[in-house]
Amino acid sequence: MKKENNWNLPNLKLAQMRTKDKVKVEKTFAIPENMMNIGAGRKFYLRTYGCQANERDGESIAGILEQLEFTQVQTPQEADLIIFNTCAVRKNAEDKVIGELGHLKKLKLINPDLMFALCGCMAQEEDVVDLIIKKHRHIDLIFGTHNIHRLPELLYNAMMNKERTIEVFSKEGDVIENLPVKRFGTHKAWVNIMYGCDKFCTYCIVPYTRGKERSRELEDIMQEIHVLIAEGFKEITLLGQNVNAYGKDLGLENGFADLMESVAKCDIPRIRFTTSHPYDFTKEMVDVIAKYDNIMPFMHLPVQSGDSDMLKIMGRRYSVEQYKELFDYINEKIKNCSFSTDIIVGFPNESKEQFQRTLDLVDYCKFDNAFTFIYSPREGTPAAKMEDNVPFEEKQERLQRLMAKTNVHASAKNLAWQGKVVKVLVDGMSKKNKEIYSGYTEQNKLVNFTATDVKVGDIVEVKINEAKTWTLDGEKI
Ligand code: SAH
Ligand code: SF4
Ligand code: F3S
Repeated sequence: MKKENNWNLPNLKLAQMRTKDKVKVEKTFAIPENMMNIGAGRKFYLRTYGCQANERDGESIAGILEQLEFTQVQTPQEADLIIFNTCAVRKNAEDKVIGELGHLKKLKLINPDLMFALCGCMAQEEDVVDLIIKKHRHIDLIFGTHNIHRLPELLYNAMMNKERTIEVFSKEGDVIENLPVKRFGTHKAWVNIMYGCDKFCTYCIVPYTRGKERSRELEDIMQEIHVLIAEGFKEITLLGQNVNAYGKDLGLENGFADLMESVAKCDIPRIRFTTSHPYDFTKEMVDVIAKYDNIMPFMHLPVQSGDSDMLKIMGRRYSVEQYKELFDYINEKIKNCSFSTDIIVGFPNESKEQFQRTLDLVDYCKFDNAFTFIYSPREGTPAAKMEDNVPFEEKQERLQRLMAKTNVHASAKNLAWQGKVVKVLVDGMSKKNKEIYSGYTEQNKLVNFTATDVKVGDIVEVKINEAKTWTLDGEKI
C-alpha cells in the first residue's frame, strides 16, 4: 500500500543552505473543490509544543482544518485526527512527544479510522522522521514547517488513498500570506512579522527547522493588525525568532523601529514583541519603545551565558559588556522595564569560572524571570560535534545553583510591586472562585485579584497586596 518513493524527507544539509535568492511571497492558498468537506463529521485534536511561532502555526492549522469542515475537540479520545505540532529545540521536549504518541497509539484499537499527524520542527529533523518511519508506524502523516499550506492535499492523500504520507521541504522558505487562521485567544493575538533565523547560534536547531530569515511586507502585517483591532483584540505580540532583524532582508534600514512605530500609532492598547536578539537591538528601537505608552515595558532578552568567550563559541555575536550596555540603556530609557532572559548551562567544556560569570551577570541584571536550560546536543549543529568535558551531574548541579539565584531575584522583583497599583489586562476567571480573576500587568507579571464586575479583555487597576515568587495577589480598585 505505501508508496515510499513519493515521500519527501528532511535533509539537514539542504536546510542549512542560504542563498541571496529573493523570497517568494505566495498568496494563492485555496482549498481544491474535491477536498472542501473531507472533514465533515470528523473531529481533530491539536497539541502544540514549543514557542509562540508554533502556537501561531497551530492557529493556521486549525483554520485550515475548520475550512475542511473538521471540528476541534479538547481531548485526543474524542478525535478522528490527532495532530502533534512539535518543537525540536531540546531533546527532552522531543522525548515527551515520542512518549505521548506511543501512549496514544492504543486509541486506534477503539477507533480504527483514527489518524495521527506530526508536524512542526521535529518533522524537519532527519533522525526523528527516520525513527518514526521505522518504529512508529501508526503515524499516518508527517508535514513540515514550510508546507502547512499543503495540508488539504496531504490529508486528502492520507485519508482517501489510505497511504502513509510524508512531505517535508528542507528549503530556505517562502512567505505564505493568506492562510486561514482560527485565533485561540479572544483578546490577545500573535502576529508573525518574520519567519526563520539566520543567526546559526552553534547549539541551535531553529535555523534548520525554520529556514532563512524572511520578513513579511509591512502592508501585510498592518492589514492583519487592522483586522485584529476591528475584531476587538486588545493585545498584539509581534513574533519572530529575532524580531530586531525585521526588514533587513527587505533592505529596510530601521525596519523594526519603524514597524513598531506604525503599530503603536494604531488604536491597540498593548503591543508586545518576542524574541529580541541583543545583536540587532538598536538604540532607535529602544527609543521608539520608550516613546509609546502602548508598547509594553517588558523585554525578553536572551543572554545565554555571562562569559564573553563562551558567547563567542556559541556564536552569539555580542560580548557580556555589550549586553550590559544595551541592558543599561533600556533601563535608563524605559521606566519600570522588566526583563526576562534565557540561559544555557553546561555548554560543551563550560568551565567553573565561566559558569560563575553567568551567576555574576544574573546578579548584575536581576532578571524578573529567567528560562534556564541544560545544553542539549542537536544533530546537525556545530556544537553537537564538540567534545565535552563537563559531566552531566555537574551540569545539573549548575542548573540548580543558577535557578536558586534567579528565583531570589524574581522574588525580590515581585516584592517591589507590593502596595503599588498596576494595570491588568483581564485574561479570565479562576475555575474555583468566581470572584478571583487573573491577568498580566504591563511588565508581564501574572496577577490574581479579587473583583466582581470585570470582563475578559478589560484593562483594570489592581492594588497589589501580596507578592509571591511567580505571581502577585491583589484587589481591583
Ligand atoms: N530565537 C530565540 C530563542 C529560540 S530557542 C533567541 O535567539 O533567543 C529558545 C531558547 O532555547 C534559547 O534562547 C536557548 O536558551 C534555548 N536553546 C536553544 N537551543 C538549545 C539547546 N540546544 N540546548 C539547550 N537550550 C537551547
Ligand atoms: Fe536559535 Fe540563535 Fe536563531 Fe535564536 S538567534 S533561533 S538561539 S540560532
Ligand atoms: Fe521549538 Fe521550532 Fe519554536 S524548535 S522553539 S517550535 S521554532
